[in-house]
Amino acid sequence: MSETNPTGANATAVPLRPPASVRVTELRRALALHSTAYYDDDNPIVSDAEYDSLTRELRDLESAHPELLEPDSPTQIVGGTASIAFGEVTHLQPMMSLDNVFDADELDRWWRRNEKIIGADAAATTKFVCELKIDGLAMSLLYRNGVFERAATRGDGKVGEDVSDNVRTIAAVPKQMVCGLGDSVIASGPTLLEVRGEVFMPREAFEALNARRRESGDPIFANPRNSAAGSLRQKDSTVTASRELSFLCYQLGAVEGGPNFRSHAETLAFLGECGFPVSPEIRLVGTLGEVIAFCEHWQHHRHTLPYDIDGAVVKVDDLALRGELGSTSKAPRWAIAMKFPPEERTTLLRTIEVSVGRTGRATPFAVLDPVFVGGSTVSMATLHNQDTVALKDVRPGDTVIVRKAGDVIPEVLGPVLALRPEGLPEWVFPTDCPVCSEALTRPVGASDTRCTNVDCPAQSLARIVHFASRGALDIEGLGERTVQTFLDAGLLATVADVFALRERLDDLRKIEGFGEVSIQNLLAAIETAKTRPLGNLLVGLNIRHLGGTMSPLLAKSFGHMDRLASASADEIGAIEGVGGIIATSVASWFSQAENIDTISRLRAYGCNFEGPEAPTVAQTLTGMNVVVTGSLQAFSRDGAEEAITSRGGKSPGSVSKKTTAVVIGNEPGAAKVAKAEELGIPVLDEAGFLHLLETGVVSF
Ligand code: IVH
Repeated sequence: MSETNPTGANATAVPLRPPASVRVTELRRALALHSTAYYDDDNPIVSDAEYDSLTRELRDLESAHPELLEPDSPTQIVGGTASIAFGEVTHLQPMMSLDNVFDADELDRWWRRNEKIIGADAAATTKFVCELKIDGLAMSLLYRNGVFERAATRGDGKVGEDVSDNVRTIAAVPKQMVCGLGDSVIASGPTLLEVRGEVFMPREAFEALNARRRESGDPIFANPRNSAAGSLRQKDSTVTASRELSFLCYQLGAVEGGPNFRSHAETLAFLGECGFPVSPEIRLVGTLGEVIAFCEHWQHHRHTLPYDIDGAVVKVDDLALRGELGSTSKAPRWAIAMKFPPEERTTLLRTIEVSVGRTGRATPFAVLDPVFVGGSTVSMATLHNQDTVALKDVRPGDTVIVRKAGDVIPEVLGPVLALRPEGLPEWVFPTDCPVCSEALTRPVGASDTRCTNVDCPAQSLARIVHFASRGALDIEGLGERTVQTFLDAGLLATVADVFALRERLDDLRKIEGFGEVSIQNLLAAIETAKTRPLGNLLVGLNIRHLGGTMSPLLAKSFGHMDRLASASADEIGAIEGVGGIIATSVASWFSQAENIDTISRLRAYGCNFEGPEAPTVAQTLTGMNVVVTGSLQAFSRDGAEEAITSRGGKSPGSVSKKTTAVVIGNEPGAAKVAKAEELGIPVLDEAGFLHLLETGVVSF
């Protein structure tokens, strides 16, 4: 017997990696499981990205070992089988899937492979249609003599589910084509027309639906795609109708008695003229460079759209050329999906910890196995409060779905129950503060749990860090680590102590790693902080509910710290825009002895208590909400905002019914423009904006 390795297996006979045939079998099994969970149960076990990476591994192995290729491998078939709950529909033409690429090099290689089929000349002059890859469900709509007849899901590509009754409830799906109205449209429409596109749930509708489900105790949907799928699978179509699904078309299927199209762009124009919704973001381009520019643009601007996309789709425009290129058994060669980096991944939830903030709120957060998602590595994510943990039912040891979309903070969506180890215990919210060990309290009806010990070191730390932060007194050099060091050394306990540091020079010099230059810089920054506007000082005082918007308003309205300090809740609440909760909280803060002491110490140290002078600019925009999108010539982004707010207006980041006007510069956000059009809100160019600033009149 030869020597054995620690696993007990024969060391010379056992290869380090499983042979390709074993791994291929493993991958096929895993993909089959995930495919059922995704397509049939609308309940994915792994994220799209992980599914893609398993598929790629399998495809790579199959191309390296062609002898292992089998016709029923998941790489050769389109996912999903028809569910028995709905009637079956055999597609008039197979509904194919798309092959994926993940970067510009792979896109280039896709096109080089095609170049070999159609020749260099044709490849060099090929035009491409660039589309968004909407993250919803493929749908086939059939129209006979212009009238909606049936809708079917893709299913396995050959046979889908008849979801006509449910799709009929979607407002964006025409029930009757309007052929004959447009310029280039034939007088009477085709006798049979199959339109393909994506049914999806706009993000706003998804969030509202989940909010309703949270309230009613129903399990929430992980993402808009799942909720669109769940909404389509309803047996009662009035439920589907309530779900605000939408539809965009991107492809023509079978046509009888209709026009002969030569290009995809022509097809889409025709569909648009017939009343089908076509994405306004679709572009016809002449080079791969332009294709890549389109993909990069949407990778970075995907969150400006009102719905989720997971990539872009690139299609050869010329239909004759498409015919030459043909298809593999699964996907056309004439189209390719450029997938964007995932915004959702699964990872291990190592533990749940609780942090205590400046107001004593105890916030649970997830400590995760680091995972690259939404463009950065995430190792922590807030879980908000006790109820959120219970509602999401996440437990240390769970595999969880993590989502990070754009600049939004990372979120744990929920556990992957299929991967939960047996007997995993529920997480229990601690009864005592993890920092000072005092009992935590949660008043009846409140969602937050708090540490009520005002001397809790965690609160002191957070309060002083906030006092020195950019939105408050902006003291450079006084970040979390330094504050913690000073707290440990007994140099700080409350916010007013910051101004007493000057008198503690000897103690400061004793702190390791804190040199003379750093000390002098810090003291200079603290001196400057005394001159900050009253609004910033109010932000820094850690008054509950009082933040960066209301503080400057109170500073302006009362004009002096002392006038605000002696005002009643009613007087504070009488200021336009200040709600009752804030007014009560401010008045109560100024009535507490330790806070009165803080104010008198800040006065003694020479902090600015004066409010801003009365505005010098005419308040032409009082009560108006002006949204700016795209870049303007005469204003930076901050400059445009300042021009609006200094005239008494507000400059929110999104368009709503309350918006007075939307100012459009270069490269505006498509979603904002669309929303303005939808709501009939006036749209202004830069000249209109200047006129509005000067006169307060919207003229366009
Ligand atoms: S074309 C043969 N265009 O992506 C071409 N598909 O991964 C078939 N999808 O099943 C599809 N946006 O559900 C096409 N602009 C778009 C798309 C799109 C989303 C979906 C569709 C398809 C899947 C393939």
